[in-house]
Amino acid sequence: MSEPIRFLLNGERVEVAGLPPQTTLLEFLRDERRLTGTKEGCAEGDCGACTVVIAERNDGRVDWKPINACIRFLPSIDGKAVFTIESLKSQREELHPVQQALVDCHGSQCGFCTPGFAMSLFGLYKTASSPSRRNIDDALAGNLCRCTGYRPIVDAAQQMYALPSPSGWRGNASAPDSGDNEVDTALAAMARTRSLDYTHGGQRWSAPRSAAEVAQQRSERPDARIIAGMTDAALWVTKQHRMLDDVIYVGDAADLASIRETADGIDIGCAVALTDAVNVLNRFYFEFAEVWQRFASVPIRNSATLCGNIANGSPIGDSMPALMALGAIVEVRSATGTRSVPLDSFYPGFRQTALATGEFVAAVRIPPRLHRSPAAPHDVCHGRRTGVPRVAQRHRDRPQRGRHCRRNRDGKERGHGRHDAHVLDHG
Ligand SMILES: Cc1cc2nc3c(=O)[nH]c(=O)nc-3n(C[C@H](O)[C@H](O)[C@H](O)COP(=O)(O)OP(=O)(O)OC[C@H]3O[C@@H](n4cnc5c(N)ncnc54)[C@H](O)[C@@H]3O)c2cc1C
Ligand code: FES
Ligand code: FES
Repeated sequence: MSEPIRFLLNGERVEVAGLPPQTTLLEFLRDERRLTGTKEGCAEGDCGACTVVIAERNDGRVDWKPINACIRFLPSIDGKAVFTIESLKSQREELHPVQQALVDCHGSQCGFCTPGFAMSLFGLYKTASSPSRRNIDDALAGNLCRCTGYRPIVDAAQQMYALPSPSGWRGNASAPDSGDNEVDTALAAMARTRSLDYTHGGQRWSAPRSAAEVAQQRSERPDARIIAGMTDAALWVTKQHRMLDDVIYVGDAADLASIRETADGIDIGCAVALTDAVNVLNRFYFEFAEVWQRFASVPIRNSATLCGNIANGSPIGDSMPALMALGAIVEVRSATGTRSVPLDSFYPGFRQTALATGEFVAAVRIPPRLHRSPAAPHDVCHGRRTGVPRVAQRHRDRPQRGRHCRRNRDGKERGHGRHDAHVLDHG
């Protein structure tokens, strides 16, 4: 039986039924709730006009993440808190520091992009207390502004922390800890123990709570589409107007949302957002940090998953060349068990994967650093003209061959030249 989707919207609990499961969060906010401060620009995750912040429980704390509402299906918000631009002003009509700083620094002209920038800045405000210029640039990389220019907006990001904390804000940013506690308590009260099953108009969305349940549902509904961060899949709907009739959403399966560090390597579950995966990967394989920083933008990385990038099998996917160079293993699961497939055997052909009927990618395992030669910083780069990733791993004991992009000691690319073995170059 279908159950309503429930979540916190600007601090208020809402329950939603009677909408197709592929309704985007942006459509819901603007069309159903008339929260029109959140704008629609591209409807494909590129411009940031639709940025909102979600809060979710994670291991005893609350995570605050800007996301693109235009490519987020509404049922995936179940059990989370959503904050829109309308929530920033306090109940006493005072501007939040991110808004006041944008005003003070003249960070807005036509204003169309401004709510999105404000929400990205709000995400930064909640997660960093003195961000570097590089962090600020990264936080704003998913927002486009055509008329103001970025300098005043960056100024606002630098000045917002100096402004008085707001009082009476719905999320209580004046006392972030108690604000987080309030959100945490409200989210805990909504937590589900059973799979969400939401249907409308012949479309179905199920959100199992565990890997075993995902496997079971996958065997019962082999034609259902597995969805994780939906940063690829949502565009099939918003851009290609396709219908997703039956969806199994892996994002609420707790054991698939974990990262485990073992003697065999780092296991990154298929529900782990790229932001969280990268935080761990950068601790071990810091040479690849730039690959991840160039991967889309903060709001996309807050939704997208590493396993989704692998399973999607795009020939221009950014993670696979780097992960292949690290010897990554794909953990494939079905109702009958699990098997391990080396990532470099996972693609039998163009846009094909080794997944059989009833299987899904449960995790990707990256071997521990000590088991393989380190990759040098100059081994990874993007094709500048194509945007297509290239990577080479250096094995010190092998002869040099292949062409690839070289870097100086400071990390800058310095053209192409002869180099070591195992070059994966799609550029
Ligand atoms: C604005 C924008 C910028 C982007 N920039 C980049 C970029 O710089 N580099 C890049 O590589 N990509 C980029 N992407 C593409 C996308 O973000 C990535 O491919 C992302 O990793 C997909 O992960 P997801 O969890 O969102 O996958 P989803 O969209 O949920 O799924 C993608 C596909 O994989 C399948 N799938 C997902 N998870 C599983 C699983 N566990 N088991 C089996 N099948 C599964 C789905 O059925 C679907 O076919 C961008 C996308 C957007 C919208
Ligand atoms: S409308 Fe452009 S990113 Fe959402
Ligand atoms: S203020 Fe006009 S697009 Fe940014």
